[in-house]
Amino acid sequence: MITLSVIKADIGGYVGHSSMHPDLIAEAEAHMEKARKEGLLVDSHVTRCGDDLQLIMTHEQGEGNEKIHKLAWDTFLACTDIAKKLKLHGAGQDLLSDAFSGNVKGMGPGSAEMEFEERGSEPVLVFMADKTSSGAWNMPLYKMFADPFNTIGLVIAENMHSGFSYEVHDIKEHRKVVFNCPEEIYDMLVLIGAPARYAVKAVRHRPSGVIAAVSSTDKLYAIAGKYVGKDDPVLIVRSQGEFPAVGEVLEPFAFPEAVEGWMRGSHHGPLMPCSIPQSNPSRFDGPPRVVCAGFQLSGGKLVGPRDMFDDPSFDEARRLANLAAEYLRRHGPFEPHRLPLDEMEYTTMPKVMKKLEGRFTALD
Ligand code: 13P
Ligand code: 13P
Ligand code: MG
Ligand code: MG
Repeated sequence: MITLSVIKADIGGYVGHSSMHPDLIAEAEAHMEKARKEGLLVDSHVTRCGDDLQLIMTHEQGEGNEKIHKLAWDTFLACTDIAKKLKLHGAGQDLLSDAFSGNVKGMGPGSAEMEFEERGSEPVLVFMADKTSSGAWNMPLYKMFADPFNTIGLVIAENMHSGFSYEVHDIKEHRKVVFNCPEEIYDMLVLIGAPARYAVKAVRHRPSGVIAAVSSTDKLYAIAGKYVGKDDPVLIVRSQGEFPAVGEVLEPFAFPEAVEGWMRGSHHGPLMPCSIPQSNPSRFDGPPRVVCAGFQLSGGKLVGPRDMFDDPSFDEARRLANLAAEYLRRHGPFEPHRLPLDEMEYTTMPKVMKKLEGRFTALD
């Protein structure tokens, strides 16, 4: 069995929240290389999406392993030291705890991990997003594994015809529910169509139960109690064979869906698919980005990456994203560009409401 772990954190932006300083990548690579030499990791790849540092690791320690999580935490701490020296923006932004306690969950970084038996051919796609939240994966995951207009394999591939199950997390109440699709898609859409509250955590092949996709659902505001930065989630998807083909996995991103997370985490904007070097959200700190690193696993080695959205066939998605961005921007501080009031409770909004409390009088 091999475990693929993707653990990420914003440990300082360059410049502002737009991108990452190369020294942070170099420092993280040195830590990963040391762990490889010591035999803790089978392989690793360090990359970024916007201002978020991404550690992609393979190992044989299983999910939620303390050594792996400590390696990631220590790497983020070392990179934060460099970020502080360079006075990068928001150095250590996502490290919300002072002491490591066995697992990065609930400490600020985001993580997605899956353990599985490597197949004869094992294509995996690692999606990483900036300026958005974990629910952003709901629509793409629905299309990939439940929508035959996206994934023709659901109709014509015998090994996909019995469908997939979705584990959906209620982020506010800390509970979960599993839906069997396609039978329960209407029930499921009631929930996952509200991505600020419900997020797809995992997708499994039916009836085998084999893991197909895992996302990070770590909510930064729920940990910090105030706005400190957006979740900027990650998603791992296995492809081909009993799973959707690579092109079926990428296809949902040809539509730049509206997600929350743009500018101060408080605005809706289109999710623009782009190459990793182009993930530098600058216009109004955006628009939100998604990148994808593709690998073929070989004995746990990460053969790759291929920068999957570095393809002119996504140019129109980028153009549509720019048009949608322009349309939304013109709303300025008005909804639906700005998030609804109940989503603003981690900003200054409650203070403003408190200040105004005594000034409200009853309508006639
Ligand atoms: P190739 O014939 O290029 O291998 O493509 C196979 C395929 O089914 C792509 O969807
Ligand atoms: P990040 O979560 O990517 O740091 O973005 C924060 C922000 O508020 C940008 O406007
Ligand atoms: Mg940042
Ligand atoms: Mg970010």
